[in-house]
Amino acid sequence: MAKTGILRLRLTNFRSYEYLNLEFGSSFQPVVLTGHNGAGKTNILEAVSFLTPGKGLRSARLSDVARRKTAETLLNADVACLPERWSVMADLQTHTDQVRLGTGTIDGTDRRQVRVDGKNVSKQSELGRYCKCLWLTPAQDRLFCGDPVARRRFLDRLVQAFDEGHAQRLSEYNAAFKQWSCLLREGRFDHSWLTALERQLVSSGVAIAASRLDVIHRISTYLIQAENPLFPTAEVILTGVLEQQLLTRSALCVEEEFAERLKQSRKIYADGGSVAGPHTADFKVIHAQKNMDAALCSTGEQKALLLSIILAEMKTQMHEQGQCPLLLLDEVSAHLDVKRRNTLFDILADLPTQVWMTGTDPFSFLHLSNRAVFYDVEDSNLSLQKVA
Ligand SMILES: Nc1ncnc2c1ncn2[C@@H]1O[C@H](COP(=O)(O)OP(=O)(O)OP(=O)(O)O)[C@@H](O)[C@H]1O
Ligand SMILES: [Mg+2]
Repeated sequence: MAKTGILRLRLTNFRSYEYLNLEFGSSFQPVVLTGHNGAGKTNILEAVSFLTPGKGLRSARLSDVARRKTAETLLNADVACLPERWSVMADLQTHTDQVRLGTGTIDGTDRRQVRVDGKNVSKQSELGRYCKCLWLTPAQDRLFCGDPVARRRFLDRLVQAFDEGHAQRLSEYNAAFKQWSCLLREGRFDHSWLTALERQLVSSGVAIAASRLDVIHRISTYLIQAENPLFPTAEVILTGVLEQQLLTRSALCVEEEFAERLKQSRKIYADGGSVAGPHTADFKVIHAQKNMDAALCSTGEQKALLLSIILAEMKTQMHEQGQCPLLLLDEVSAHLDVKRRNTLFDILADLPTQVWMTGTDPFSFLHLSNRAVFYDVEDSNLSLQKVA
């Protein structure tokens, strides 16, 4: 399979970077960024994540991404400083073509522009046609124990890679739910308005649940075939009401039931109650070899389970779409013992895609010497490094 990756990456006024230009060969070896805390490693991964639709790996407000001037620069400035415009540009080798992707803001606000081969495109989702990207960050290390919102976000990113309409349906569902909940909480029982919103909630809601089920089913094939016992088989179980119902009932039945439940819940919701739907859905993961809920596994075991899911998603994409997504692993070594870490590096070095990794200690990547491009990051300056 042809390798995919970034040939050139250019950042302008992005977080701590006023300007950065990186160029890579077409062998797309893993890129390893190491340096002290605050050196600027994660910022680079975040910039790469903006080559896909959405809010990037930090789920940041776009205005926060624009480079803030330091106190010293502000002191020397002649005029009051406006928020910076920021941009990320990349020459990307896909499995078929080379494409130039650009994104950024015009005036430091929350409007993100996207360009493909120098032409403005109106929808961010266009980026997804060229660039797919998966990531793991330290914030996800406790994904199985923490906030369900983060788990849903993780799940929906897995789904979006296969279903281009998923993000659109999620935003339609969320917009309708917001209106529905506002009407009820303000005591405005406008029957025909509520019914119209419920129709929207039912049609996009059941489609969202069906897509989640479908993608987890497809990934599960590769989860079961996990090739290395150090990265255990993760059994993913969707626990959302609609997802559960779809396992045994037709989509039509589930739609009818959801419509009825929404209607019956109006009063309860208006009084401060809740209603279950795709917005409350969740999933749990079982460590299959140990038959143990992931939430009860050790921190390192949880990280290995997450990596198993990510690797299975990558394999599914490779087999179904003929392209392997870019992979961003922030603080990749955290919680992994030496054996697991080196086994992971072997797996990553063989993937037909560019894998970006960060860490504070270059020597923890020694196993990858001669198989990766190493950069030392210091004060948002990058220099090539030899790690041997
Ligand atoms: N909008 C911004 N403008 C300027 N600097 C920013 C902006 N946002 C974040 N920074 C700064 O960028 C610096 C580098 O952050 P980054 O998260 O990349 O560090 P890191 O190398 O990943 O560190 P760690 O090892 O602690 O994870 C931080 O000092 C942070 O305060
Ligand atoms: Mg970091």
